[in-house]
Amino acid sequence: MTDTAVFDPLAEGFADSPYEQYKELRDHDPVHRSELMHGWVVTRFDDVNRLLRDPSISSDVRNATPTPLTITELKRLSEQPRASRTVVLMDDPEHARIRALMAEPFRSRAVEQLRDQITRRVDDALDAMHSRHGDGRVELDLVAEFAYPLPVEIFCEMLGMPEEDGPRFRYWTQCVARSVDPVMSPAERDECLAGLDEMYAYLEAEADRKRAEPADDLMSALVHAEIDGERLSKEDLIAQLVTLYMAGHEPTAALISAGMLSLLRAPDQLARLHADRGLLRNAISELARFDGPNHFVRRITTQPVPLGETELPGGVVIYASVASANRDPRRWGPDADRVVVDRPDATQHLQFGAGVHACLGSHLARLQAEIAFSALLDRLDHLELAGTPKWGNRVFIRSLDAFPIVCTIGPAARAS
Ligand code: HEM
Repeated sequence: MTDTAVFDPLAEGFADSPYEQYKELRDHDPVHRSELMHGWVVTRFDDVNRLLRDPSISSDVRNATPTPLTITELKRLSEQPRASRTVVLMDDPEHARIRALMAEPFRSRAVEQLRDQITRRVDDALDAMHSRHGDGRVELDLVAEFAYPLPVEIFCEMLGMPEEDGPRFRYWTQCVARSVDPVMSPAERDECLAGLDEMYAYLEAEADRKRAEPADDLMSALVHAEIDGERLSKEDLIAQLVTLYMAGHEPTAALISAGMLSLLRAPDQLARLHADRGLLRNAISELARFDGPNHFVRRITTQPVPLGETELPGGVVIYASVASANRDPRRWGPDADRVVVDRPDATQHLQFGAGVHACLGSHLARLQAEIAFSALLDRLDHLELAGTPKWGNRVFIRSLDAFPIVCTIGPAARAS
């Protein structure tokens, strides 16, 4: 342990690139006690990988010896007891029970059935961009015009929500995302909680409708999912739906925009993808490894856990940095800080987590990214950065707020 390495997300430059701090921590203090976070920041691949797969480690914040941050969170959860039923914060065996009831529609084969539907959405989004901007060279923000709206639209359709309610869902999804932000004025909090009330009421009514009249959609599948005669209770169903909106939206949008930025900054790799589309699937894993949106997953120890030279006591909060693990040269070799679209083991990254809480939506996220990247490569020509991309200042899920580009937009999808 040294005192040279710090974890300071408020430091200048951290939002633009946290990777320099992660490198210092990996090299000098890989199991770092952070006073700011009232917990331990873990940054090496082997340690993060091990923690995520350790069945003694909890995701339930109530197992933590109270810290100012966990006290704030528990207070927030007590204000919104519905939110605390999310699968993300549960431990097995309850976690396993709820997760099993949700799993079927997210399996690879089920998700693959959505390919045409998602392709149509992506094509429509690019057609709309083309009709807004025309054939010439244009400047636009790829986040606002493409990456941000797309995953909510896709998820609403997958769930079976009426098309015209899309804008309401976009607003509600923002309310859900903001509701977990500890810093908020009372007026903002009221607005946000009112939005959440509306979302819950809407989803409850839709769930009742799909219970009475099942359709071929995700909501109907979840309402009727049954294992050994057991179904999701109404409260659990709605809590998981809200989780799905939140877990699915921002990271998928962020992967598409940050992935495109990574490619623009590695023109040789972009050229390789243009030349060989067969590399695309692997490239998406590599882009997730290189600059994926999830930076930390939080865990609580329930007993002493030896980690490297440190032994963490029970009841402490751990921030396991999947983003740092994904750049650890001890795991990835000396080119860990470069995008390599045909990296042979890129799929082994930890961007989707690992162990029992590994991302339920990873097949869906990958399919959306594959179709989105394929369409962007097909239809955006003469693509260049137009100014400095603007990163948001959220630390756990890092995403671009604005990604200005210059390009020409092809008029219609070309077969790839
Ligand atoms: C690029 C996009 C995505 C990334 C990087 C991502 C990443 C992650 C990670 C790291 C976890 C583990 C959290 C933990 O261990 O505490 C997770 C869990 C989860 N993700 Fe994703 N996710 C993405 C997209 C999606 C999508 C599209 C959905 C569904 C619509 C989804 C649904 C979930 C759910 C339900 C969980 C909780 C699983 C559990 O606790 O058992 N995610 N995700």
